[in-house]
Parts: sequence; structure tokens; C-alpha cells
Amino acid sequence: MSSRFQDQTVIVTGAVGGIGSAIVDGFLAEGARVGLVDFNSQAGQAYEQALRKRGHDVCFVQTDVAHFDQCQAAYDRITAELGAATILVNNVGISPKTSGRALKVWEMPPAEWNNVVAVNLNSVFYMTRLATPHMVQERRGRVINMSSVAGKAYCDIVAAHYAATKAGLIGLTRHWAAELGEHQVTVNGLAPGRISTPLLKSVPQEINDAVAAVTALRRLGTPEEVADACLFFASDQARFVTGQVLDVAGGWLMT
Ligand SMILES: NC(=O)c1ccc[n+]([C@@H]2O[C@H](COP(=O)([O-])OP(=O)(O)OC[C@H]3O[C@@H](n4cnc5c(N)ncnc54)[C@H](O)[C@@H]3O)[C@@H](O)[C@H]2O)c1
Repeated sequence: MSSRFQDQTVIVTGAVGGIGSAIVDGFLAEGARVGLVDFNSQAGQAYEQALRKRGHDVCFVQTDVAHFDQCQAAYDRITAELGAATILVNNVGISPKTSGRALKVWEMPPAEWNNVVAVNLNSVFYMTRLATPHMVQERRGRVINMSSVAGKAYCDIVAAHYAATKAGLIGLTRHWAAELGEHQVTVNGLAPGRISTPLLKSVPQEINDAVAAVTALRRLGTPEEVADACLFFASDQARFVTGQVLDVAGGWLMT
């Protein structure tokens, strides 16, 4: 077993979901301690218990990342239990649909817009605000933001709130890469294409099949394929890479 992340503490948001849990498993397999941030308390506690039984150092904190005070409480508990984090994966994201369909601008309830902005974008500021003082002090750190190909190109499966927040993450990635570079903290992003996770079940199967048909590799991706790219950005192999957003999309929606 390789151990690229031995003795390092990683925080992953949306840690119980499809891509999040693959990222968590990837870091644990390479020696890290991992703080799990998610609002699904039942699945989170069960996952934490299963990981602890396998001998891993993990700490799950039930958190609604839309609220700064809850992010602060999660950050404080995780770092108290596992040590200060030098790797932050801002993975959490939601893509609400109504009857399997993305709402158009004239249909969108402002409350839905605000919730997506709070979860997909504000939480990334909150967690990064909390995690970077230690990274700056240590002169070592990695921030990885989970964008989407829908933040780079028009994608009719998602609504405008999702596209706007994922595009926002690309702006944040570049801006923070420039701000944090002199402190030896890198900031990169991932832009997954269509990945087989519970998030996909919000649309009819025909839509996912149609995406696979126009993807260069003719299939959907797996959470592990996104996790592999995430671990690369977090690793020493990517020490001179910052401000980049990598498509992990099998050649779908190439820009
Ligand atoms: N699956 C895809 O095809 C795909 C494509 C591009 C980008 N992404 C992005 O990858 C990330 C992970 O997606 P996924 O497919 O694994 O999703 P998922 O729905 O499987 O998991 C999302 C997780 O986030 C948690 N969560 C949701 N709202 C929360 C909140 N307010 N506070 C705390 N936790 C909350 C959920 O409980 C869940 O565990 C998201 O940012 C998503 O936008 C996914």
C-alpha cells in the first residue's frame, strides 16, 4: 500500500455521497486521517463506524454546510480530534430537479436559487476561510474544489443555479491560487462529467444513457475515477500545479 498522505489530516465535505466517499476511501487507503462533513447523519454515522472498525482515523460531524456556524463547529471538532488539516476537499454539491427536470429561469423559486448558492458556493468560502489560516502558517496546503463541466459549457441537464455556482468555483480556484501561492498552498479544481452516483438518479435513465452516447469514451465515469484525480492534486506529485481545473469527463462537453 502506498502512503502518500501518512499523518496528514484531510477534510472532505459531502463525504457520504458517491464521489465524496470514493475520495474519503482513497485518502484513507493512503494513510490519511479524514474528517467527514455531511448533513446525512444516519449514513454518516454508519460510514464512520464502518471505517473505524477497519482501523481508520475518521471523524464524522453532521453539518449543514450552508451555515457558517455549523462549518466552524465541524472544522473545530475535526481538527481537535484528528489534528489540523493541510488538505481540504470542497466536494459538497446539489443539483435540484423538479419531476426529473431542471427549472428554467422563469420557473425558478428564489428559495431554490439561494439554497444552491449557499450549499455549492458559500460553503466553499466558509470551509476555505476556516482551513487556510493553518495552511498559511504551516506553508503547506491543498484546496481542491469540485466544479463540473456544467460550469464551463452549457449543459441542459442542470439548472442555471448549478451552472453559476460551478462556474463560480472556477473563479475562486484561480483567485485563491494567486492569493495563496506565496504561502505554498495550491488550489485546484475538478470538473467531472457524468459520474454514476446517487445524484444522477434525479433524472430519467434515458438522459444518462444519452450523455454516455455523446461522451468520447462512450460511458459514464465512476466516483473512483474522480477520486484518483483529486488525490493527484492533493499529492506531492502536483506540487507545482495550481489554479487549474481538470475535466474528469471522458471527453464529454470538451471546451
Ligand atoms: N455525479 C455527477 O455526475 C457529478 C458531475 C459533476 C460534478 N459533480 C459534483 O461532485 C460533487 C459530489 O457529487 P455526487 O454525485 O457525489 O453527489 P451525491 O448526491 O452522491 O452526494 C452529495 C453529498 O452531499 C451531501 N450534502 C448535500 N447537501 C448538503 C448540505 N447542505 N450540507 C452538508 N452535506 C450536504 C449529501 O448528504 C451527500 O452525501 C458535487 O459537488 C457535484 O456537484 C457530480
